[in-house]
Amino acid sequence: MKILVINGPNINMLGIREPDVYGEGSYSSLCRLISDACLSEGLECELFQSNHEGAIVDKIQSALGFFDGIVINPAAYTHTSVAILDALKAVSLPAVEVHISDVASREDFRQISYAGTACIKTYMGLGFEGYVRAIKYLKNYLEDKDGCKTDV
Ligand code: DQA
Repeated sequence: MKILVINGPNINMLGIREPDVYGEGSYSSLCRLISDACLSEGLECELFQSNHEGAIVDKIQSALGFFDGIVINPAAYTHTSVAILDALKAVSLPAVEVHISDVASREDFRQISYAGTACIKTYMGLGFEGYVRAIKYLKNYLEDKDGCKTDV
């Protein structure tokens, strides 16, 4: 099974940007954590980060036929992008939304998630651990869907 992990704008600035909100870990340490989590779940993964909405749309479209599922933190585009929502709906791959911070307890403008309406699950406010939880959830979901889940 192969999953695509997408991070949106400014996630490459982790460790520098607002450490009180997003923590002190860098984007490269997040990438290592994600790669290790996928390895221990027996999943192949590709990581993608972009600051550009259209590039994220292109990446989601290109996932069709190549990936089994998507983990996505659309970052600020969460709250603005119908294009990313439509791309997720277009490919119809199971997607799990992640937010490092607890967006539910932040500003009013962060209370809408367009992409989230196309996702099977959302993790927020768990820091980097949210990605690990999302990867495990997606793996279980894919196994159940394929009817090949072995553990109970
Ligand atoms: C974020 C939350 C968004 O509101 C914000 O624009 C981000 C990061 C998070 O991971 O907590 O850039 O998606």
